[in-house]
Amino acid sequence: MKTAVGLVAIAAAAVQAQELYFTTTGYETRPQCTQPPATATPSYRFQPFSYTLNETVRYAISVPSPTSTATFGPGYHEAVKKLNTKLSTTTWGSWLPGQTAISATDTSDKYGQAAWSSQWLQASLVNYTTVGMYTTTVSPIPIPSSQLVLPPRDFFGPTDCYEFPEDFAFGVAGSAAQIEGAIGLEGRGPTLLEKTIQSDEPKDYVTNENYYLFKQDIQRLASIGVKYYSFSIPWSRILPFTVPGSPINEQGLKHYDDLINYVLEVGMLPVVTMIHFDSPLYFLKDANITAVPDIGYNNGGYWHPEFVDSFVNYGKILFTHFADRVPFWVTFNEPLLYSFNFTGIDNVVHAHAQLHHYYHDVLNGTGKVGFKLNDNFGVPKNPTNQTDVDAANRFNAMQLGGFANPICLGEQYPESLLNTLPGAKPLSKQELKHIGKTTDFFGIDPYTATVVSVPAEGIEACSKQNLSTNSLYPYCVTQEWTNVYGWDIGYKSASYVYITPTYLRSYLFYLWNTYKTPVIVSEFGFPVNGELESELVDRLFDSPRSQYYLSYMSEILKSIWEDGVHVMGAFAWSFMDNWEFGSYTPFGMQVIDRTTQERYFKKSFFDIVDFIGARNGLGY
Ligand SMILES: *[C@@H]1O[C@H](CO)[C@@H](O)[C@H](O)[C@H]1NC(C)=O
Ligand SMILES: *[C@@H]1O[C@H](CO)[C@@H](O)[C@H](O)[C@H]1NC(C)=O
Ligand SMILES: *[C@@H]1O[C@H](CO)[C@@H](O)[C@H](O)[C@H]1NC(C)=O
Ligand SMILES: *[C@@H]1O[C@H](CO)[C@@H](O)[C@H](O)[C@H]1NC(C)=O
Ligand SMILES: *[C@@H]1O[C@H](CO)[C@@H](O)[C@H](O)[C@H]1NC(C)=O
Ligand SMILES: *[C@@H]1O[C@H](CO)[C@@H](O)[C@H](O)[C@H]1NC(C)=O
Ligand SMILES: *[C@@H]1O[C@H](CO)[C@@H](O)[C@H](O)[C@H]1NC(C)=O
Repeated sequence: MKTAVGLVAIAAAAVQAQELYFTTTGYETRPQCTQPPATATPSYRFQPFSYTLNETVRYAISVPSPTSTATFGPGYHEAVKKLNTKLSTTTWGSWLPGQTAISATDTSDKYGQAAWSSQWLQASLVNYTTVGMYTTTVSPIPIPSSQLVLPPRDFFGPTDCYEFPEDFAFGVAGSAAQIEGAIGLEGRGPTLLEKTIQSDEPKDYVTNENYYLFKQDIQRLASIGVKYYSFSIPWSRILPFTVPGSPINEQGLKHYDDLINYVLEVGMLPVVTMIHFDSPLYFLKDANITAVPDIGYNNGGYWHPEFVDSFVNYGKILFTHFADRVPFWVTFNEPLLYSFNFTGIDNVVHAHAQLHHYYHDVLNGTGKVGFKLNDNFGVPKNPTNQTDVDAANRFNAMQLGGFANPICLGEQYPESLLNTLPGAKPLSKQELKHIGKTTDFFGIDPYTATVVSVPAEGIEACSKQNLSTNSLYPYCVTQEWTNVYGWDIGYKSASYVYITPTYLRSYLFYLWNTYKTPVIVSEFGFPVNGELESELVDRLFDSPRSQYYLSYMSEILKSIWEDGVHVMGAFAWSFMDNWEFGSYTPFGMQVIDRTTQERYFKKSFFDIVDFIGARNGLGY
């Protein structure tokens, strides 16, 4: 029974909170229960009992074989005519175990074999010649149906009746350095990610050996029924010497050509990200990679004077070769984290805009070009307190607005960025005109939410400091993961992620209505606590991850149908456990045996595909 609002005795500490929430007493209502058996009496009776196993066995439904191929832009021969640079390709060597030098006589060629191997030697890395089990592409084998039996369902789950819009893009995401391995093979150049990891932490040298197992990995995705595969191409595999005019690595190019073709061959569609933290080491060879950033986590070299032209050249090379087959392009993955300072942000914005213009104005591509940003949604601790609301707005704007204000809206960088970051300069009117409306979607990686308020010292004082002197800089807000009553905001993972589906819906509403651009949930995922320490069979039964995925997908549906938010797609992170920049925090929907490289589907993978398929969201 309900009683009047506010009749309960409220503890002094909770008085403020009373304004926050619609406070009520009584038990949860059950509006869906239309036939209360208030007056009915149970009919007790004896019946024969038997141990009938009455579960229906269901198998995952594989992606159907393609019947036609869609085209999203000009093919290579047409595209290369529009490129005003001459392309040359070549091949370089491979670093194999124990090798300390690669013999070469072409010392006068600045892009020759000798120059290529000296890039690696100058990087002065430990053990970078380590390879895994494979050094050639493994032929895929069909997935036996015995591995495609759906797991028992969780007792509780979504009860909605929505369907996905016809063009909703559902898929899974990963990134090259986190799964590929083969770092010094087939002509790849060194990247920042080989440098940043401390000596005793796991490296990106071997990881999941996806560089050679990609066909098997894609086969597994098709078998379980995934439509889109979002992956990244490492710049250093395409252009080992990074800069415009340097030759293309024939082996690297062929690898991603094969990969894209294989994705299409099994009936899936590719989503290509151009950079996913794996900056060519070229930009950092003279830089201090441990220097404290003004913003973000790492010194990704995006501030480098040659960065914009080099990235645009690289992006055009990808478009030239692959635009015909790729429906979705992501220029930058979470660029803020590797921007390092204002110059990094500014360069990313310019490079992105140039590539978007090139794709649409020159190539006349019909696919979509966008970016994906990080920002665990900042929500005000007390949403009725303007100070907290301002703090949350600052937090979100500083992470998103540096890119999204100019790119989505043609508007200036947020005041908070301009006033906080050293050397920040506003964009000119002409720049804003050129940069404005240069994205076809807003990719967001909304893993979780964070509760934001103003620190005791205030925002102003903190914003005049730096990260060496103040750990809250540059956002200068307090972040917590509990609500005003002291409860966690959701079920906690092994990492920073909490299950916060209702905040996701609120976030999607915020993004769509602030930046007026269709949203793609470009990564979301949940590393289950204790999973790595469990037995394999128990690791596979990952109900908390299912709960995360189904609740998030369910909120996306409400966002689309009840809030009028254009959510264009969702890519789950990730389709397998992977290298998480120095650890193996299990974000994946498959377990990887790190000795045998065998893959095992987890329950959540079946659950999310079943959820989408049951709501017509797979597009076939
Ligand atoms: C098992 O399922 C069948 C068919 O749906 C049904 O007739 C039967 O009563 C069920 N048995 C038990 C023990 O639930
Ligand atoms: C390099 O490899 C050797 C042999 O496997 C190992 O003992 C050492 O810890 C490795 N060093 C680093 C920094 O990974
Ligand atoms: C690099 O930056 C770190 C952190 O700020 C600093 O301690 C170190 O002295 C710097 N190294 C060089 C060579 O400047
Ligand atoms: C671009 O594509 C549109 C429709 O796909 C077509 O009508 C137009 O002629 C194309 N323009 C160029 C320059 O190729
Ligand atoms: C809002 O929160 C701030 C900081 O916690 C506090 O100083 C202020 O009194 C609050 N304002 C109101 C109207 O409650
Ligand atoms: C960003 O960092 C680079 C490398 O340290 C430096 O050259 C550049 O001036 C910095 N930009 C700003 C705005 O501080
Ligand atoms: C950081 O701030 C402190 C105190 O304001 C100042 O002494 C120091 O020089 C600053 N460091 C940098 C790298 O700007």
